[in-house]
Amino acid sequence: MTLSDLNRLLASRYSCRAFRPNPVPKDQIEQILTSAARVPSWCNAQPWHVSVTSGAETERFRAAMQAEAAAGTPCPDIPFPTSYSGVYQDRRRACGWALYQAVGVKRGDRSASTQQMIQNFSLFGAPHCAIVSSPTELGAYGALDCGGFITAFSLAAQALGIATIPQAALATYSPFLRRYFDIPEDRLILCAISFGYADTDHPANGFRTDRADLSEIVNWVG
Ligand SMILES: Cc1cc2nc3c(=O)[nH]c(=O)nc-3n(C[C@H](O)[C@H](O)[C@H](O)COP(=O)(O)O)c2cc1C
Repeated sequence: MTLSDLNRLLASRYSCRAFRPNPVPKDQIEQILTSAARVPSWCNAQPWHVSVTSGAETERFRAAMQAEAAAGTPCPDIPFPTSYSGVYQDRRRACGWALYQAVGVKRGDRSASTQQMIQNFSLFGAPHCAIVSSPTELGAYGALDCGGFITAFSLAAQALGIATIPQAALATYSPFLRRYFDIPEDRLILCAISFGYADTDHPANGFRTDRADLSEIVNWVG
């Protein structure tokens, strides 16, 4: 394998916000999970654990998640960022506007942007959802290891033609997710990954994000 093979895979992945309903075969989900679990973790602790929904159970979860988001109280296990400033604010805005432009949400139309955000809780129509958790005792480093797992999950899925989106939005309702999936009290719920086959004709999948130049992210020493 060459770096250009890897770059092709990296460049072809994007966060999918409209899925077709077709299920992913179980053996392919197993392959994705097996590949994702090859990432490094501190002390090889492999802190990730996932609850993966399929079929009617995804539909049952989707309905329950939507109901919770409509009526529940936000209470993420890991506090969400309190602010984005400087370049982080700029990049956040740029990807938000790219999405809104793609789906036709006009600047300042709060109701339409909320409607788009709410799609998170219907899993963007995905036929599968994985809830990712990490042991509380491993703290930020457990979450760091799980970040690698989530990225590798997305890339392994992409290599099989399966689209993904990591979703912190679902972790807004961590107590609900803990109850629903019987996730132990001593684990932090990090995020979800919704996945399946992309609806490539949907406008929400019609834009791509860019990346900062190396000069913005590297301090060369020597
Ligand atoms: C940890 C994490 C959480 C995310 N949560 C959400 C989310 O809740 N809703 C959403 O629409 N996108 C979410 N995203 C997707 C990001 O917005 C997306 O990765 C970013 O804009 C870069 O675009 P790309 O993935 O298409 O390259 C999340 C991504 C990560 C890594």
